[in-house]
Amino acid sequence: MSVVHIMDHPLIQHKISYIRSEEVGTKEFREVVGEIAGLMCFEATRDLKLQDVKIKTPISETVGKELTGKKLAVVPILRAGLGMVDGMLSLIPAAKVGHIGLYRDPETFEPVEYYCKLPADCDEREVFVVDPMLATGGSSTAAIQMLKEKGVKRIRFLCIIAAPEGVERMQKEHPDVDLYIGALDERLNEHKYIVPGLGDAGDRIFGTK
Ligand code: PRP
Ligand code: URA
Repeated sequence: MSVVHIMDHPLIQHKISYIRSEEVGTKEFREVVGEIAGLMCFEATRDLKLQDVKIKTPISETVGKELTGKKLAVVPILRAGLGMVDGMLSLIPAAKVGHIGLYRDPETFEPVEYYCKLPADCDEREVFVVDPMLATGGSSTAAIQMLKEKGVKRIRFLCIIAAPEGVERMQKEHPDVDLYIGALDERLNEHKYIVPGLGDAGDRIFGTK
């Protein structure tokens, strides 16, 4: 069964509360989503493997630690996932970036695929899938299935706000994928929006409504 990490860092909680407010405009919303993504990346990379490295400081020789150099990739689910990419790359700048385009049909709430471009060697990479919202789980489970079909073996999923329904579906369909969640909310409403949530993340990041 996958591990569900709910972020308890005060800075993450503070920033999520800030962007929930309907008073926050596009510029601030986009900036703070990026900051939250960076903080969540810090938590989601805690178990990256290290190896010893010899270093000569100006004072003496020593042995330090460095990342093993295992290859990483960040894969946002378009559109809203784009808002988390720069924050992730600020901590893991050597990661490659793939894109998966999915939108949720407003009638059926099922994900509709419209784009997929991944690093050529994505099957050799540890992949961080990012999307601010995990609602029914339709989009994230479909995106992860697409990655698995391309041979990706190690996947983590990061979202800023999740509904219990989405978490349950992710754990059922992808029990090998650990979840990093900024805040676990109460439920979905009749339009499958997260309550209390923050509204439509894509519209709020890009100012389209
Ligand atoms: C939103 C969000 C997720 C999805 C979550 O995207 O960014 O991708 O909905 O809902 P689900 O868990 O029920 O699938 P949306 O379809 O609104 O597209 P957008 O990012 O282009 O706005
Ligand atoms: N997608 C969003 O952007 N917000 C929700 O609350 C649910 C799905």
